[in-house]
Amino acid sequence: MDRYVVFGNPIGHSKSPLIHRLFAEQTGQQLDYSALLAPLDDFIGCAQAFFEHGQGANITVPFKEQAFRLADSLTERAQRAGAVNTLRKGADGRLLGDNTDGAGLVRDLKVNAGVSLQGKRILLLGAGGAVRGALEPLLAEKPLAVVIANRTVEKAELLAHQFADLGPVSAAGFSWLAEPVDLIINATSASLAGELPPISPSLILPGHTVCYDMMYGKEPTPFCRWATEHGAAHVLDGLGMLAEQAAEAFYLWRGVRPDTAPVLAELRRQLASA
Ligand code: ATR
Repeated sequence: MDRYVVFGNPIGHSKSPLIHRLFAEQTGQQLDYSALLAPLDDFIGCAQAFFEHGQGANITVPFKEQAFRLADSLTERAQRAGAVNTLRKGADGRLLGDNTDGAGLVRDLKVNAGVSLQGKRILLLGAGGAVRGALEPLLAEKPLAVVIANRTVEKAELLAHQFADLGPVSAAGFSWLAEPVDLIINATSASLAGELPPISPSLILPGHTVCYDMMYGKEPTPFCRWATEHGAAHVLDGLGMLAEQAAEAFYLWRGVRPDTAPVLAELRRQLASA
């Protein structure tokens, strides 16, 4: 049976084995998918050993940059992201590196939430790996403007510079922003600490602005609560992005696109009862 894994450290709480098992059942694909704890100092050795027999892998924190270097070839979006979350072994044994995170975000917004991005003003909060991974797929949707706002403004400026050839992208500090936008995406890790980036509520046009947090939890994140309090039209968390990035990986490996809706419903059910 074809073998797939997710590498990470830690990896115990990964939802990927459940998601891919449900995808495989739903599409009638015969495959084995498990979680593999790679040692912090030997991801490369662990991955090479796996790929002697394995067909594909997902890669999560903290190995996405190492997976980028391990890949023999890269998709455009992985090249731009500087990180790989999906590896596929080809018939010749070479490893293709892809990054499905940003595509998962865009698909969750467009298909699941019905939010079109073309011609929109988008504000991205943060300038770490999550934003880097989202920029190419977001700019491909032809937004009117993408502003990257970050606590450390220089990091936002560097990203804006690196992606300027793909579309209208600029950088800002949180306190510079006041005009309402169409979509705010929180890609900072502030929620992990129960915090919120210091942004003005005037960025939300009540009943119009969509707010998306890449994080998720049993309870609404601080950013989602803030968005709801200030009248955002739609408030979404990152569980849909998790399911969609997995579906993109599954499609890359198997050539079949699973229906994420029942899987997302199961993830939501398990999260609520956790
Ligand atoms: P990831 O790979 O998930 O993007 P990262 O590369 O560590 O993680 O980036 C974390 C992002 O969250 C950064 O943009 C960070 O801001 P700095 O670049 O200024 O460090 C942002 N961040 C983390 N905690 C934050 C907080 N409490 N308020 C605002 N931004 C925060």
